[in-house]
Amino acid sequence: MSVTILGIESSCDDTSASVIRDGYLLSNLISNQDVHKAYGGVVPELASRAHQANIIPVVDKALKDAGISKDEIDAVAFTRGPGLLGSLLVGASFAKGFALARKIPLVEVNHLYGHILAHFIKVDEGSKHPAFPFLCLLVSGGHTQLVVVRDYLEMEIVGQTIDDAAGEAFDKCAKVMDLPYPGGPVIDKLAAQGNPNAFTFAKPRIAGYDYSFSGLKTSFLYFLRDNIQSDPHFIENSKADLCASLQQTIVDILLSKVQTVAKDMGIKEVAIAGGVSANSGLRSALTALGQKKGWNVYIPAFKFTTDNAAMIAITGYYKYLRGEFASHDLPPLARMPF
Ligand code: KG4
Ligand code: ZN
Repeated sequence: MSVTILGIESSCDDTSASVIRDGYLLSNLISNQDVHKAYGGVVPELASRAHQANIIPVVDKALKDAGISKDEIDAVAFTRGPGLLGSLLVGASFAKGFALARKIPLVEVNHLYGHILAHFIKVDEGSKHPAFPFLCLLVSGGHTQLVVVRDYLEMEIVGQTIDDAAGEAFDKCAKVMDLPYPGGPVIDKLAAQGNPNAFTFAKPRIAGYDYSFSGLKTSFLYFLRDNIQSDPHFIENSKADLCASLQQTIVDILLSKVQTVAKDMGIKEVAIAGGVSANSGLRSALTALGQKKGWNVYIPAFKFTTDNAAMIAITGYYKYLRGEFASHDLPPLARMPF
C-alpha cells in the first residue's frame, strides 16, 4: 500500500510544504520571508503574519508540483516545536484544519528529528542513507547537538551547547561585522577568499561532549574592537580573512567533539544536519576527516540543510508507519523535549 504524506513546516521564518510518497520526494516548496532582513534578525510577530499569508499558496503549489490532488494525501505531518510559538501556531492550525476536513490522520513532528531524518528522503534510486546506529551533528540557528541515532525514531542527545548555537555564533559575529542576516551563508561566501590561518580565536575548554560558543563570540568582538583602535577600517580591510578564520575556528570546535564521540562509542557512520551543515568549510573538513578515520560520512543536499517541509514529511512518514498519530488538541510547543 502506498503512503502519501503532506508535510508542513513553519517553526521560524520559512513557510514550507512538501509531499512525500513512500519516502520519495514529490515536491518541496519553501517561501522565505524577506521582511526580516531590515531588522537584522527574525521578528516573531512579522513571521507569523507572513506564515498566514503564505501557507495556503505554498501548500497549493506543493500539491501542484507533486502532481496530486488533496484526495491522495493519507496524513498531514506538521512541526509541533521547537520554534517561535506564533509561527508554529499557523502551521499547526492549518494542518489540523486540513486533516479534519479531509478526515485523515494528523502527525506531530519534532523539528529536530526532521533535520536528522532528512537523511532518509529518497530523491532517486541512488539516494544514500546512513546505517543505524549513526552519529549526527545537528547544527542550526537554535541548536547544536550531538545525537546518537539508533533507529528512525530512537535518538539520544549525548552532547549539546551550553549557551549559543553554532548558527547563532555565525549570525552574531556577522552582525558585529555589519553583514546582513542570516550571517552564516554570507560568512561562508566571504571565507572562500580569505586565509583561515590569518587570525586565531580562543577555543572553549568544555569537558565531555558539550559545546560552548558564547566565549568565541565575545573574543571575536573584543578582537575587532582592539584592532579598530589602530585601524578604523580593519573590518573592511580584513573581512575575508576574518570570515575564513572565524569559520575555521567554529568548524574545528564542532568536529573535535564529533571525533571524540565517534571514537568513544566506536561509531563509523557520521552525519551532519541543520542549517549550518550547508557550510562549505564544515562539509569539506568533515569529508576529509571521514577519509582519514575511515568513516562513512553523510552530508545532506543543500536544499535539505535549512528549514524545509520535506524533512517534516519524511519524519511524518515513519511515524505514520508506526501508527503514531496526534490528537487535535495538542498545542504547539516553543520548547519541545527531544
Ligand atoms: O536549520 P535552520 O534553517 O533554522 C533553525 O532551525 O535554526 O538554520 C539556520 C541557521 C542560521 O544561523 C544560518 O546562519 C545558518 O543556519 N546557516 C549557515 C549557512 N547556511 C545557513 N551557517 C554557516 N554557513 C552556511 N552556509
Ligand atoms: Zn531548523
